[in-house]
Amino acid sequence: MGTVVDAAPIKATNESLAEKKKPTVVFVLGGPGSGKGTQCSNIIENFGYTHLSAGDLLRAEIKSGSENGTMIQNMIKEGKIVPSEVTIKLLQRAMEESHNDKFLIDGFPRNEENRAAFEAVTGIEPSVVLFFDCHEKEMERRLLSRNEGRVDDNIETIRKRFRVFLESSIPVVEYYESKGKVRKIDAARPIEEVFESVKVVFTPKNEKAN
Ligand code: ADP
Ligand code: C5P
Ligand code: MG
Repeated sequence: MGTVVDAAPIKATNESLAEKKKPTVVFVLGGPGSGKGTQCSNIIENFGYTHLSAGDLLRAEIKSGSENGTMIQNMIKEGKIVPSEVTIKLLQRAMEESHNDKFLIDGFPRNEENRAAFEAVTGIEPSVVLFFDCHEKEMERRLLSRNEGRVDDNIETIRKRFRVFLESSIPVVEYYESKGKVRKIDAARPIEEVFESVKVVFTPKNEKAN
């Protein structure tokens, strides 16, 4: 005899992303160490967004013992970009589980494949793309003193990540530039100064006038 199961249909506790009103998405892009995570923390405190870092989601997936863990770990160590399918599933799940409808998606899309697949799968286009512009010398200095125990914050992997950023991620920024969506921020300045420029992007125009 099997166990008696309740015949009532399972009630979905979370609406699926498709049923929800399309969320507002801001992509946060910039080279490794340009300060994306740091500024996202400031933004969520002030502007009601939920922060989703693609890199953090991938690292959590490794820790969870997922079947993709070893593959993701190897890609991160080499500074390579994980297949979109994996990253988009993680982002979608995080968005569905959230009660918010405003997201800062940090470190994504990293290449053309990421960008096109996200749009095709979710039907979502970003309202704005924040681009943190910083020179390599400063990004290298920051990464080497980040001290979070990351397997990719060593000079060898950092050089690979800079290369991937130039070859694969800059074209994504250019794509959104052509659509007039990029707000470029000089990210080589101190954290507070960078945030002053970030705030302007999130402050409605009529409020700025007051
Ligand atoms: P990203 O997410 O773009 O890789 P992080 O936000 O993790 O970058 O920043 C990388 C390191 O640099 C962290 O240790 C952070 O504290 C530091 N950092 C971030 N922004 C600045 C800044 N404007 N000036 C100096 N150090 C910074
Ligand atoms: O953004 P973050 O520095 O945390 O990313 C760390 C690494 O995670 C990247 O160098 C890359 O290997 C992987 N990643 C990815 N695809 C993304 C974001 C991050 O493969 N969209
Ligand atoms: Mg980060």
